[in-house]
Amino acid sequence: MTFRPRLNKNTLVFGGVAAWGLLLISCVAVNRTMLAPPYIAGANLVGNKGCAECHSEVTDHFSSSTHAKVALAEGNVGSTGCEACHGAGSLHVKAGGTRSTIVNPGKSPEACFQCHLDKRGQFNLPNAHAVATGQMSCSECHDPHRGNAIKGTGASLHTQNESCTECHTAQKGPFIFKHNAMKEGCTSCHNPHGSVNQKMLNAPDSNLCLQCHATGSSPGQLFAGGRDHAGNPVNGSCWAAGCHEGIHGSNVSHALRY
Ligand code: HEC
Ligand code: HEC
Ligand code: HEC
Ligand code: HEC
Ligand code: HEC
Ligand code: HEC
Ligand code: HEC
Repeated sequence: MTFRPRLNKNTLVFGGVAAWGLLLISCVAVNRTMLAPPYIAGANLVGNKGCAECHSEVTDHFSSSTHAKVALAEGNVGSTGCEACHGAGSLHVKAGGTRSTIVNPGKSPEACFQCHLDKRGQFNLPNAHAVATGQMSCSECHDPHRGNAIKGTGASLHTQNESCTECHTAQKGPFIFKHNAMKEGCTSCHNPHGSVNQKMLNAPDSNLCLQCHATGSSPGQLFAGGRDHAGNPVNGSCWAAGCHEGIHGSNVSHALRY
């Protein structure tokens, strides 16, 4: 998950068809309980209209959301958008709305893992946000009900960073010497879903930096930032003590030192 072209509406709908196809096939052939909507004993599907009566604050703008478009791509399930994540709603509606009769995926990522199978694995990697244990939720960074599911996209990458710096204030700055990599977004160096590398880095070593900074090399030379780094003692990484440890920005040196 480094640089990934943004999906436009068409590719999204296409992706939706593909994913739902997989979903439906899998329901029949592979593992019913794993890919069906979250299970609520005794409940039937009622459709989005059955929710609008009491949750208009959600249903009114749901059509703008990524997942509404996904659901619409497949007629059969178009009316069950809410229930794909919340489980069948008939008992909840009949009871006039009780917590025990509906699933809230804000409390557990299981509803999301049903379709985003790969994310279960990522969040179980050694370095990941504590989503698997329920201390954090997918919805800290994703909006299931309104607009693009990835907060900050559609607007600017700056706001996508802001969804991180709300919690990670130290990385927010302002810094006297900025690192322009930040403009590409936190995800140019981190995978917020998890990584085998410490600090959820996309690469464990200097290759993280060389993806942007390798300005050419010849035998025995390694150019980065306009100067030969081949002689530098790279004890692990470019951000090791004494080098560019102010990697998010620095108030001391343009070379990103503390
Ligand atoms: C008759 C009114 C009514 C209808 C219809 C209704 N709800 Fe609710 N819903 C409520 C009320 C009231 C609560 C708050 C329950 C509480 O806080 O104890 C609630 C709570 C919820 C919650 C939060 C549960 C939690 O654990 O925090 C979700 C999710 C939810 N509803 C989804 C739905 C969905 C999806 C539908 C359509 C299938 C739906 N509701 C239809 C009245 C309704
Ligand atoms: C992509 C999955 C997904 C879909 C589709 C979805 N929701 Fe939710 N819903 C969530 C998540 C995640 C939360 C928890 C949000 C949080 O904790 O901030 C939530 C929370 C809620 C709540 C609890 C109140 C709140 O806002 O925290 C209600 C009510 C609700 N959803 C209703 C609906 C209705 C009605 C629909 C259909 C129009 C719907 N949802 C579609 C994932 C989904
Ligand atoms: C019923 C299946 C289903 C469920 C349940 C589901 N999703 Fe999705 N989601 C999809 C599909 C299909 C897409 C679009 C196709 C793709 O993945 O490229 C998508 C796209 C996304 C995207 C990417 C949007 C983008 O602009 O690239 C995010 C983020 C996301 N989902 C988060 C969640 C979260 C968080 C939950 C749980 C609250 C959830 N999803 C539940 C099927 C689902
Ligand atoms: C700490 C923030 C954060 C949390 C928590 C988080 N995500 Fe994401 N997610 C992101 C960001 C940022 C992107 C955009 C990545 C990019 O632009 O390269 C993204 C992208 C995605 C995408 C689309 C691209 C892809 O990797 O497939 C899906 C689907 C997705 N997330 C699902 C989930 C699910 C499901 C959960 C919970 C189990 C979750 N995310 C929790 C930050 C988060
Ligand atoms: C809701 C708050 C919250 C949001 C939003 C959030 N994080 Fe985190 N993040 C945490 C917590 C809590 C930890 C684990 C505690 C710690 O070490 O600081 C963490 C840990 C990390 C770490 C590893 C720190 C370490 O010392 O190992 C990185 C890197 C990180 N987050 C990046 C991001 C990125 C990138 C985003 C945005 C896509 C993001 N976070 C969004 C709360 C958040
Ligand atoms: C140019 C690559 C790069 C970008 C872009 C980047 N980071 Fe980092 N980040 C790193 C490296 C490298 C480390 C490890 C530093 C270390 O171990 O001393 C790190 C460490 C962290 C840590 C752990 C801090 C600590 O003191 O251990 C957090 C939290 C974090 N980054 C959040 C973010 C957030 C939030 C963004 C976006 C606003 C971001 N990063 C953008 C490279 C980057
Ligand atoms: C996504 C691309 C990207 C990544 C990844 C990246 N950088 Fe940068 N970096 C830039 C850009 C753009 C600039 C500003 C223009 C320039 O000087 O090349 C910059 C500038 C710098 C500067 C300031 C140079 C000066 O003299 O002002 C240093 C030092 C630096 N980066 C170190 C690193 C290190 C160390 C890493 C790895 C942890 C890294 N960068 C990863 C894009 C990136």
